[in-house]
Amino acid sequence: MIINDISSNKAGVRPPIDSDYERDVARLYDDKQNDFNLLLGKDTQLVHHHFGIGDFDRRPGALADEESVQRRLHELENSQTDRLLDLLEGFGAEQRIFDGGSGRGGTAFMAHSRFGCFVEGATISRYQLDFAERQARDRGCDDRVGFNFMNMLRTGLAPGSFDAALTNETTMYVDDLKPLFREFARIVKIGGRYVFATWAINETNSDARRLTDAIDDHYVCTMHSRGAYLEALLDAGFIPYSVEQMDAEALPYWELRQRSEHRSTIEQLFIDGYRTRSVAYLMIAAERVAR
Ligand SMILES: C[S@@+](CC[C@H](N)C(=O)[O-])C[C@H]1O[C@@H](n2cnc3c(N)ncnc32)[C@H](O)[C@@H]1O
Repeated sequence: MIINDISSNKAGVRPPIDSDYERDVARLYDDKQNDFNLLLGKDTQLVHHHFGIGDFDRRPGALADEESVQRRLHELENSQTDRLLDLLEGFGAEQRIFDGGSGRGGTAFMAHSRFGCFVEGATISRYQLDFAERQARDRGCDDRVGFNFMNMLRTGLAPGSFDAALTNETTMYVDDLKPLFREFARIVKIGGRYVFATWAINETNSDARRLTDAIDDHYVCTMHSRGAYLEALLDAGFIPYSVEQMDAEALPYWELRQRSEHRSTIEQLFIDGYRTRSVAYLMIAAERVAR
């Protein structure tokens, strides 16, 4: 069943955008239209707003032109999503995934292609909603992959209506993880899963905030510590069964992006972040348990 209907936000649920911060985040993504992400996805029509996992060819002369740099960056973005979806291995065609912060739909489409399952996405950017819905129609999967103008903190969706929730680099857009994970626990059935990828604050470095505050400023977000993630999962009734910290695999994407003519100031922040153990890249899978 596809919801695909903004009115599915039941009476009594606050509107999707209801604070200055949510307005700022929505504006950020409404304004990202003719952007680098679109360029990277031009051949596959998979448009992502997350980073990459994996290495690149470092031999002299390799990836020497902008086109090859962009092609490899996009492969790394897709590898990231493949790795996240590995955590849902065994998922069936009749099962349902909630994708919180679905962006332009890249992760939802890859999940559907791999498992044949239903996916329901939520975004607070109307531009992204229109883009992803158009893509679903073009791909001929709009009967199984739907998108909603919906806040993942307060979805209004029926309790226990999903076999899994996933978020791909979106949890840094809430200031408190606990209400978010409680909402996911509410809509995921007992025995269901929550899987996510995120960049987090590595508490190992007591000076981490120097870099992570600058990243927060750049992306209008609020990074959380590794400990805050684990605490919020347990608080909501999710028991983590796989926790991977993938800093070494997350770093090359940024080193390669430094070579692109589209680089900005953010690449060096992430490179320094991983090298100084200020930033951690996490993929976590957790099971929803009865309490
Ligand atoms: C970094 S992008 C990631 C997009 C997508 N998951 C991907 O991997 O390409 C963050 C996304 O989170 C969405 N977002 C931020 N806060 C949200 C909220 N409270 N509810 C729903 N979506 C939200 C933004 O609209 C955007 O689509």
